[in-house]
Amino acid sequence: MAVKSTIHKFSIEELIKKKHQSKKEQLDIHDAYLTHSFDVENEKKFQNKASEYANALIDVQFENENSKRPQNMNTFDYFSPINAPFKSKRNPDFNFIDLFAGVGGFRLAMQNIGGKAVSSSEFEPNAKFTYARNYGQVPFGDITKEEIKDAIPAKFDILCGGFPCQAFSIAGHRKGFSDTRGNLFFDIEKIVATHRPSVVFLENVKNLLTHDHGNTFRVIKEILEEKLNYVVKEQVLNSMVHANVPQNRERIFIVAFDPSQVPNYSQFEFPTPIPLTNTIHDLLEKGKVADKYYYSKSHMYYPELDKSMTSKDTLYQWRRIYVRENKSNVCPTLTANMGAGGHNVPLVRDEFGIRKLTPRECFSFQGYP
Ligand SMILES: C[S@@+](CC[C@H](N)C(=O)[O-])C[C@H]1O[C@@H](n2cnc3c(N)ncnc32)[C@H](O)[C@@H]1O
Repeated sequence: MAVKSTIHKFSIEELIKKKHQSKKEQLDIHDAYLTHSFDVENEKKFQNKASEYANALIDVQFENENSKRPQNMNTFDYFSPINAPFKSKRNPDFNFIDLFAGVGGFRLAMQNIGGKAVSSSEFEPNAKFTYARNYGQVPFGDITKEEIKDAIPAKFDILCGGFPCQAFSIAGHRKGFSDTRGNLFFDIEKIVATHRPSVVFLENVKNLLTHDHGNTFRVIKEILEEKLNYVVKEQVLNSMVHANVPQNRERIFIVAFDPSQVPNYSQFEFPTPIPLTNTIHDLLEKGKVADKYYYSKSHMYYPELDKSMTSKDTLYQWRRIYVRENKSNVCPTLTANMGAGGHNVPLVRDEFGIRKLTPRECFSFQGYP
């Protein structure tokens, strides 16, 4: 068969879709280096680390097509990067790293005020895929691993981290530092000690303040202040009071400054309240949503729910053994295990039946566009 020579563009979006959907593979550190090399062009470490993987991908592609790889092209020119909808601005005002990145809520907020993420880390496969498609970077994985910490660029301005909160939350078992999810603060400590960002910006459940009679928060604050020499400010903010989002979501925000890099740190103030003009009804989808969100007649909760949920177009709250109408016009705190049922799950009764919130609605209640 004749061997042809053509210039290919190799779609990274297709690559990560295939890999994510495959039963055998997962998005890994190689995909993270490759995507970061396009998104953070001035960090040569990313290209160096990605180059072997990138070359192997191109070789396989040419081999599959039985065509010859031209020798005169730069490896990275063969790729078309992910066409992500949420990009940082060209000349960012500051840069940050996005730890415990989830699907990128922290990142979106920081991008909106002129920041650029120069690295991200998240280990949950679906969150990684969502994040990659939204922002163009496959996050690096488990931050407790040294190879993942090594991927962090030497210098960046702000460390952002909504570190896991189940270990401290009232809804969880409140094990704190004795739960591996609570220990992750010590990984943040190591990264701060190595990289000395100007600012450390952390978010957690409000209960972090009172967990273990205040000892957990005391340890966090002491480490930041006394071991790492940062100045710490903290405040509990609520999305319905500070973000015009109709969800009752109280979170503690911890902002720590390195005074040698931020001499005017004392001017920092937490935001003041703004009026809540959005209501639940602005965020609930109109009309029938996909069948899978409705409770079927055979669902074990159905008779109970059906008795209690009489008004249409209303939000209810599933409270372990009963359901009550939500009259506050504000959604209760969304939790990580909502899809699995459990405590305080919001339910909607619309003209088609009783249903859970859709992912779109959950995103809206979290303030995403
Ligand atoms: C409270 S959520 C943060 C959500 C995020 N702020 C957002 O805007 O979507 C914590 C995240 O940390 C991730 N996580 C937990 N342990 C991790 C680890 N060892 N390495 C990387 N990510 C981890 C979880 O999968 C979860 O998505």
